Amino acid sequence: MAVMSKREDRVHHFCRVPWEDADSTNQPRQAANTMNQTPSMQRYDLITQVFHWTVVVLIIGLLVTDWLRDGAPKPSDLRTGYLNLHVSLGILIFLVTIARIGWSRLVGAPDPVAGSRLIQLASKGAHLLLNLATLLIPIFGFLRLASKDRAADFFGLIQIPSPFGNAPALNDLMHILHGEPMELFLYGLIALHVAAALWHQYYLRDHTLERMLPWSRRAVVRTGANG
Ligand code: HEM
Ligand code: HEM
Repeated sequence: MAVMSKREDRVHHFCRVPWEDADSTNQPRQAANTMNQTPSMQRYDLITQVFHWTVVVLIIGLLVTDWLRDGAPKPSDLRTGYLNLHVSLGILIFLVTIARIGWSRLVGAPDPVAGSRLIQLASKGAHLLLNLATLLIPIFGFLRLASKDRAADFFGLIQIPSPFGNAPALNDLMHILHGEPMELFLYGLIALHVAAALWHQYYLRDHTLERMLPWSRRAVVRTGANG
């Protein structure tokens, strides 16, 4: 009988599906050439999945509100309204990311999907950068407002005033860290992440995407014991 990992032990109430249930006609392509790997039943628990897709929806909301603000007449209430919505969603994504990291530390992460040590490191690094981005970009957004001595509005409920007033040098820096260069970096990172997820799911056919989907039938992924 296979020994359960710590994470598996903790989350198997939510999502355990026997390895034997796997569709034998659709086994992971990688399985044939991987050694020292334990077939284990590992997927993300429902709460992690909800956090993940909430962040995806919020990112889309942030980019759409920024795009709408950009197209609105200058100055206008509409433009201010879109900025306030952008700021509110940005603060929300920051809070959700803190809760998400807290939850992930509590329950741990499932074993990595089978692959070379390098691929597993790259995947870990990308996840770390994505979490860092959703923590730091909102802070830089706040600093971009605050360095112009403007308050940040959270859905009309709370106003966070600038702690330091006008700071032109900081504002210039925030035009980089919360401006177009940041936008390009974020798009690149997300594009790589999505491409990797699709590559695993549809080329390697190792069901990686299904680890993140609550409705997926196949919860079984061959994971790597070597890292
Ligand atoms: C992950 C969260 C966020 C993302 C992905 C994001 C994304 C963006 C993007 C792509 C731009 C356009 C940058 C440019 O072309 O110059 C922008 C502008 C801006 N964002 Fe954010 N943002 C986030 C959170 C926040 C937060 C939390 C705040 C404030 C507390 C904020 C305040 C601003 C401001 C003030 C601008 C400039 C608007 C203007 O040009 O007048 N953002 N954001
Ligand atoms: C449509 C877009 C997306 C797809 C298809 C997608 C897919 C996935 C999949 C399949 C995994 C599991 C990977 C594994 O098992 O090793 C994952 C994990 C992860 N994704 Fe995404 N993702 C998307 C967008 C995003 C965005 C926008 C972010 C953050 C900005 C993000 C952050 C993460 C993080 C941090 C993890 C690691 C698990 C966790 O901590 O929740 N993803 N994603």
